[in-house]
Amino acid sequence: MATKAKTVFYCTSCGNESPKWMGRCPACGEWNTMKEAPAEPKKGPASGAAAPRSERRPQRLREIDYSQDARISLGMGEVDRILGGGMVPGSLVLIGGEPGIGKSTLSLQIPLSCRDLRTLYVTGEESAKQVGMRARRLGGDDSNCSIFCETQIETVIEEARAMLPDLMIVDSVQTMYTDSVESAPGSVSQIREVAAALLRFAKESGVPVILIGHITKDGYIAGPKILEHIVDVVLQFEGENRGSYRILRSIKNRFGSTAELAVFEMTGAGLREVANPSELLIPMHEQGLSGVAIAAMLDGTRPLLFEVQALVSSAVYGTAQRSATGFDVRRLNMLLAVLEKRAGFHLSAKDVFLNMAGGLRVSDPACDLAVICAVLSSNFDFAIPADVCFAGEVGLSGEIRPVGQLDRRVQEAARLGFKRMFVSSFAKVEVKPEGLRVVQVADVPALVKALFK
Ligand code: TYD
Ligand code: MG
Repeated sequence: MATKAKTVFYCTSCGNESPKWMGRCPACGEWNTMKEAPAEPKKGPASGAAAPRSERRPQRLREIDYSQDARISLGMGEVDRILGGGMVPGSLVLIGGEPGIGKSTLSLQIPLSCRDLRTLYVTGEESAKQVGMRARRLGGDDSNCSIFCETQIETVIEEARAMLPDLMIVDSVQTMYTDSVESAPGSVSQIREVAAALLRFAKESGVPVILIGHITKDGYIAGPKILEHIVDVVLQFEGENRGSYRILRSIKNRFGSTAELAVFEMTGAGLREVANPSELLIPMHEQGLSGVAIAAMLDGTRPLLFEVQALVSSAVYGTAQRSATGFDVRRLNMLLAVLEKRAGFHLSAKDVFLNMAGGLRVSDPACDLAVICAVLSSNFDFAIPADVCFAGEVGLSGEIRPVGQLDRRVQEAARLGFKRMFVSSFAKVEVKPEGLRVVQVADVPALVKALFK
């Protein structure tokens, strides 16, 4: 049979495979993501998590023995919490993030902070010496951690089988390769095979594996995106590069809740866990700054209060600019349209800039209320008292809608010493913490009246 090198096209965003090139991936709808790669010969067992033989028969649900799956604590409280209470044996966790954000630092700090965890740290990015220097800088090298500089995944897995560590860390998926696929390390097919091999190893041996993957600013490079359905847990490490705060966010978790979030601070001696981010995201400036409002957001199960900053100024050049950092610009435009149409504020000729404090990226609709208050505050140069906070969604007709788990937000606001909290008049507030007055407003005009008088 003539063997012409066959190629196929992969979507770098979702991993969809197609025999011909297309401008738009039919599976995920992304444009310009199809990349050519050599076709892989079909191999024996399909890649994926093949269970050990003994488990390959149907089992009754109640007969499945899950008692051995006690969670492994990683020594960093915030990481354990994000994972849903520690790491599940045999699980594959992907930590994705832009280069330089601190993925290697975080993963090295885990064995350093949990000294009796026998860890195999595989690195294809740095030399053992570099890792050693980093470990010293992070304040410890007497941990139970072995560094292995290797990029061939079969060798890595062989070593791991022999050692059977309590935890294996692989830095990074882009540098590992397997001989069974011909394309270069970092290509879609290599990444898929490497991840599948690690997943098989994790499931068979019960060793939990942390896999690190880079994503570029536009999330474009082949990698973590196509791994999301292979791995058990996806954690994203993000943050404004200029700032020192980093946010670890759970995007997918087969063993716990997503939408959990942990805050770290990058210091000269590594990452420091910020157990109480609210206190840090609300700067203690004196009264009298206009354009700031405090939102009571919920990240997963934890209430988080932070500062929303807005700057409204007259547009100098023709069209007004709208820009938002950490907030959806389309949602900002929608809120501005509501202010214009339902409350009579003329903002169409104004530039509006919005910023979420601490490099936070916000998707909780409860922040709407703080956003419009920050915008109005800046527009009128009227400072909102520092002991006021907000939690409410704004609807298209200007009504203020209730938000989920309001009681937790109210309690957190009271704990942090807030005196007044604006919420929807349709919300039921069950708790009455001392010192905090909950003000219920029905729509934007009512809010403006109550706040700005
Ligand atoms: P790194 O973990 O190498 O990033 P990644 O693996 O995601 O590419 O972190 C790199 C950055 O972290 C680097 O710019 C320097 C900074 N850093 C500190 O500020 N303090 C430290 O103690 C360490 C180890 C790194
Ligand atoms: Mg790194």
